[in-house]
Amino acid sequence: MGKIIDGKAVAKQLVSEIAKEVEAFSKDFRVPHLAVIIAGDDPASRVYVKSKVRASEKCGIDVDLVKFPADIKESELFQKLDELNNDNSIDGILVQLPLPSQLDSKKVIERISPYKDVDGFHPYNLGKILEGDPLFVPCTPLGIIELLKRYNVKTTGKKAVVVGRSVIVGKPIAMLLANKSKNGNATVTICHSKTAGIKKILSEADIIVCAAGKAKMINGDMVKPGVIIIDVGINRIKDETVKRGYRLVGDVDFESVSPKASLITPVPGGVGPMTVAMLMKNTLKAARLKYKNKG
Ligand code: GUN
Repeated sequence: MGKIIDGKAVAKQLVSEIAKEVEAFSKDFRVPHLAVIIAGDDPASRVYVKSKVRASEKCGIDVDLVKFPADIKESELFQKLDELNNDNSIDGILVQLPLPSQLDSKKVIERISPYKDVDGFHPYNLGKILEGDPLFVPCTPLGIIELLKRYNVKTTGKKAVVVGRSVIVGKPIAMLLANKSKNGNATVTICHSKTAGIKKILSEADIIVCAAGKAKMINGDMVKPGVIIIDVGINRIKDETVKRGYRLVGDVDFESVSPKASLITPVPGGVGPMTVAMLMKNTLKAARLKYKNKG
């Protein structure tokens, strides 16, 4: 049985470490300040936003929750973003996605100052990853790198396979693992829905990061002994034995893969809890950046 990567415990530890750093920073300068924007009332978004607000409070970070109705106009949202961009008391800005359909999320993200983009979604920040000099890294890939660090995984020279090519997870994690850096230097293959011969590619991998959004797509027969598995998938599958009628599973079939893996993240409790903790880290970083620049 492979060792389980306890993302929940690491995230808890991180939050307490960040809280201490925030306390010290707040004494020297001022309390870091995050603005979270939510438009409409998507139930999942509301849950995510609530957990971001709660984590901020735990870390001693001030948080403003800005709520807009679902029919908000682009110009109104841009006006708010411009105001927050120009407000020196605001360090980080996050616009919860998905946005109502009349809004173009790419345009909205580009309107956020890259220096306050704690989600790391702005093309400037994605470009900085490509350049090999990251500023703000999206929270999920950043959380994956943090887990690899904390579990002492050496990536240099390893064969890493990333399944999924999203702009938020697949592409940035692939780039981070390939970059010339302490937690990079891996040989990275990106697989996706059109990849031919994925089984062979997976069977040769030392590290697999799966962010495809397809329940149990990787099973024990597809991986080599000793593989390290990072499962980013969160999929609902029917389960009549539980009250709510479904349970959450990853992209990896935990039961058959975990006996072969040397390290594996469970779902839930693996990568998921890390995301909010990394948002806190990015917010502190944004505040420090301003302090350094005497902003
Ligand atoms: N919606 C789902 N995940 C995220 C996230 O990490 N950031 C934002 N802004 N919206 C999301």
